[in-house]
Amino acid sequence: MAVGIGFGKVILFGEHFVVHGIPGIVAGINDRTIATVENSKKFELIDNRPETPGYKAEKLEQQRESMKLIFQKMGIDAESKPVKIVLWGNLLAATGVGASAASCAAIARALAGHFGQDSRDERINEIAFEGEKAYHGNPSGIDNTAATYGGLLWFIRGTPNRVERIACKKPIDIVMGNTGITGDTKKAVEAVKERKENNPERFEKIFEEAKEIAFKARKAIEEGNIEEIGKLANKNQGLLREIGVSSGELEELIGIALEQGAIGAKLTGGGMGGYMIAVTPGKELQEKVAKSMQEKGYQTIKTSVG
Ligand code: PMV
Repeated sequence: MAVGIGFGKVILFGEHFVVHGIPGIVAGINDRTIATVENSKKFELIDNRPETPGYKAEKLEQQRESMKLIFQKMGIDAESKPVKIVLWGNLLAATGVGASAASCAAIARALAGHFGQDSRDERINEIAFEGEKAYHGNPSGIDNTAATYGGLLWFIRGTPNRVERIACKKPIDIVMGNTGITGDTKKAVEAVKERKENNPERFEKIFEEAKEIAFKARKAIEEGNIEEIGKLANKNQGLLREIGVSSGELEELIGIALEQGAIGAKLTGGGMGGYMIAVTPGKELQEKVAKSMQEKGYQTIKTSVG
């Protein structure tokens, strides 16, 4: 039996803008998806990942399409060489934590192991990018890169993509709050593109600001300037609101976090539901913010990045 893993991720800065060539900052998190592959009489995909209720059913069609793209990219004929794939691990299948990318990377690794193919990170990342197309339509590549390599990364989409490891002076304590709503990243990405085309001047300005925030955020992370990281997170959220990818639930969670003393808060990932992050330096503040969210019925992840 072959086994593969993919990391969950949190986008700290630049989601959506990164699709259009603006730098993004992403961190792998400890929660991960695991895939196992073994021979079988017919093709089977058993999805045992924990989930936000309804997520897996909603993504089933995209998951089927993603499997096709992965098999195609790897040159595997699933009819003549059927396999059973089982997905599990502690990463919640939900919008905003890179669940689709983590599953693509895990499946690619396990398939490469099973069929004796090249399993170096670079190749796994290429395959996972292909699989992500079913979920994102036009993925930037940031999610599959984080799912494959983990760590704290600076990512710029291009030919080729530019990926650099960021040296973080001080780990950043964050709380991730789950709205419990499954957002459709593909639709959100398409909607942003459409709005951008309909309003080029306004969007150019917003995108310019997003770029500035990304560069400032990298500097603040490298210098361990947590106050600045928090301020920039709030500014980034302002832009995400403007491009129309926030939601009532995300705003509620952001409100709770700021009220409890978080120094910054923003949505993370595709938005329109899914997860948000709060910058909460110190275990005490992190606990306080997480508890407050939980009291209002939201699930949370407490983690440190960098
Ligand atoms: O919704 P998620 O966690 O898969 O994140 C999507 C991130 C986007 O920037 C919106 C899309 C992309 O491909 O970069």
